[in-house]
Amino acid sequence: MNTHQSLRASDLLFPVPRSIEDREGAYRLHRTTTIAASPPFEGVADTAAALLGCKRGGEDILFKYTEGLDDEEYRLSISKVQVVITATTKRGAFHGLSAVRKLALINDAILPACKISDKPTFIWRGFMLDCCRHFFSVDFIKKLLDVASLFGLNRFHWHLTDDQGWRIPIDGWPNIQEVASRRTELQYTDGRTYGRLYTKEEIAEVQAYAHDRQIIVIPEVETPGHVSALLAAYPEFGCTGGPYEVQDRWGIFNEVLCAGNDAMLTFFEDAIAQVATLFSDPYIHIGGDECPQDAWEQCPKCQARMKNEGLTEERQLQSWLTSRISAMVHANGKQPIGWDEVLDGTEAMGLPDDLIVQSWQGIRGGLEASRRGHQVIMSPNTVGCYFDYRHLDSEEEMGNLGVSTLTQVASFTPTPPEMDEKAKGMVLGAQGNLWTERVLSARQAEYLLFPRLQLLAQQLWNPQDGDDNLKRLDLLVQYCEKLDLHCYRGAAK
Ligand code: ACM
Ligand code: ZN
Repeated sequence: MNTHQSLRASDLLFPVPRSIEDREGAYRLHRTTTIAASPPFEGVADTAAALLGCKRGGEDILFKYTEGLDDEEYRLSISKVQVVITATTKRGAFHGLSAVRKLALINDAILPACKISDKPTFIWRGFMLDCCRHFFSVDFIKKLLDVASLFGLNRFHWHLTDDQGWRIPIDGWPNIQEVASRRTELQYTDGRTYGRLYTKEEIAEVQAYAHDRQIIVIPEVETPGHVSALLAAYPEFGCTGGPYEVQDRWGIFNEVLCAGNDAMLTFFEDAIAQVATLFSDPYIHIGGDECPQDAWEQCPKCQARMKNEGLTEERQLQSWLTSRISAMVHANGKQPIGWDEVLDGTEAMGLPDDLIVQSWQGIRGGLEASRRGHQVIMSPNTVGCYFDYRHLDSEEEMGNLGVSTLTQVASFTPTPPEMDEKAKGMVLGAQGNLWTERVLSARQAEYLLFPRLQLLAQQLWNPQDGDDNLKRLDLLVQYCEKLDLHCYRGAAK
């Protein structure tokens, strides 16, 4: 980027705003810059003062309330003498602040004069972090939340239970901490274990931090598969009674919840209620992916359950469980989300109408769910939303299972042409997912996430032509440098 270009706000902002007009001059942000706000935006102004290193007081930066803009919409006007952010909601005001922060960050505190009118296209703009296979510190999660908010993302899907570890404290069930939170490190001979629970204080801290940045936090509690850690703690919840282990390998395991076991349901009733208290936002993700039915075929209790419930095939037990667990989520005033396998085996039981389906096996789950009237979150592993996949089809690249190129993400759309208008109307947005079987450190996570997460953010905020996005890769790398993020700098495909 040459110096001339770097002085224009339109060349510096990412996601590219809906409407931006460059103007003459610039506002220089400095320590004595003051911030004021209309009453609804006092909290955002406090956040702004902290994030920009400015003071509350005068009106150098002004957050102004107006009626009639959309939920997340904002206007931003930067002149030589003042910065004015206008919005109707705190979310809109915060997005205006993010634009100011980005300009300050990328252009050494010089905010090029401009006039912006902007709002996102999709409501659900998310990312998922698997904290079971690799345990990430709260500091790192906060770093990611801050960066995500800067680029306009607004959903953090926190994957907290899986075969290799359970990370949410559940009072009254001591083996969750003693057993389920720790995996034996079999490659060492000294008996060491890996992982721990997040404390209640840490969970509250992450949410407060996310909420300050207008990000909703969605905890995921996996059912009925990916539960080896839970079964190791409470073997009676499995079909055979165990023994089970917190898995030290990666894959899909036959050890799943025993659908015929009422004690297991009692646990989830308690656990979901506790999760609903620990997490204040409206959603709980109940998993649902990759649940083999072999154990159910062999299990007299599961077979008895099928008979009593009038189910003719084992696969219908999954939808029976989805309905039961969803009812627990509802009983606690929350809305359930499930991976697209929740659509299988639903002939007898159906699904709760408000269950949001997350389409990960390509787009077919999204097509089917929207056809059946469910809201949909798209995170197809086939077109760029899996950030554990390699950036490039090369043995030299880190990553697992597949390839998600920058080119794919740069042209990603949550509403592909295969969807008709009705289906498109059910799509809330999309998520990028980072599974961490082969991620050993936060630095590696950054390398896999960036710049793909930034490109996804653009496509959810204000979808662009893929080639235009790719022309801005240098800018994305510059942002990563300023934000102390490792990132991929190789070929786009
Ligand atoms: C998934 O990737 N198993 C949802
Ligand atoms: Zn069973």
